[in-house]
Amino acid sequence: MIARGAMLGPDQPVILHMLDIEAAAEALNGVKMELIDAAFPLLKDIVATTDVVEACMDVDIAIMVGGFGRKEGMERKDLVSRNVSIYKAQASALEKHAAQDCKVLVIANPANTNALILKEFAPSIPEKNITCLTRLDHNRALAQISERLDVHVSDVKNVIIWGNHSSTQYPDVNHATVTTSYGEKSVRELVADDHWLDMEFITTVQQRGAAIINARKQSSALSAASAACDHMRDWVLGTPKGTWVSMGVYSDGSYGIQPGLIYSFPVTCANGKWSIVQGLKIDKFSRVKMDATATELVEEKSLAYSCLD
Ligand code: LMR
Repeated sequence: MIARGAMLGPDQPVILHMLDIEAAAEALNGVKMELIDAAFPLLKDIVATTDVVEACMDVDIAIMVGGFGRKEGMERKDLVSRNVSIYKAQASALEKHAAQDCKVLVIANPANTNALILKEFAPSIPEKNITCLTRLDHNRALAQISERLDVHVSDVKNVIIWGNHSSTQYPDVNHATVTTSYGEKSVRELVADDHWLDMEFITTVQQRGAAIINARKQSSALSAASAACDHMRDWVLGTPKGTWVSMGVYSDGSYGIQPGLIYSFPVTCANGKWSIVQGLKIDKFSRVKMDATATELVEEKSLAYSCLD
């Protein structure tokens, strides 16, 4: 997708740096061979390596897909601890070798907390440049509304994912609209079923990752990759006028969310910078859900920091 221009546009040549672990070196070389064989006009060079320094050297964009997945019988603390050590090492390499204004997108779970650890160990990368992926959840929310209303997904906009990329996330449709032949209409008005919106819709989006794992016996791949391209494209090239997207970003205290967490907010992007959409009205129902997912992030953060000792 990146080599075809889906992430940075059809006029932007790219050099792909791909990092994998030693045990996967041969398979990584196979991927490199395939990329060469695809003869992508935009792909100017490929660096396929198991050396984190070589991988991070001068990169402008870092997409962090590597992580340790949860295995049967593993405690959450073990999972966090394994990922903390991976992110600590990769952060140090990015800190020393990436381009000064490198933009980072963390995808591997626990994505928000991995991003926080990365920020901790790459202090010279501006905190505004370290983000995590909740665009996948955002797109899932758009898709659920589109299916329910039988409208095209591109006519639905301005859903919000608040909080953690986990089952406590809060998919919020209170400000979402659909473009119809009669103009923009509110999703709540069109769906006209608050029970569905406040219960089933939220649970479906929260549990979608798990539903895909159950069906495929593997995590989402295509939709996650596509969402990663969406996230980066909008960050670098800007969000369309009147539209916001969801990104996991460093909280500045907006909407009463504790500063110092990587929390998903509605954002607009222009000139390579994101800004949190301000001034949205938050009702009581939303407040409780936004705080619950923040509480989970506070717990994850303290668990992660306890693994650093
Ligand atoms: C997803 O949302 O599809 C993934 O984050 C799920 C997972 O745990 O890998």
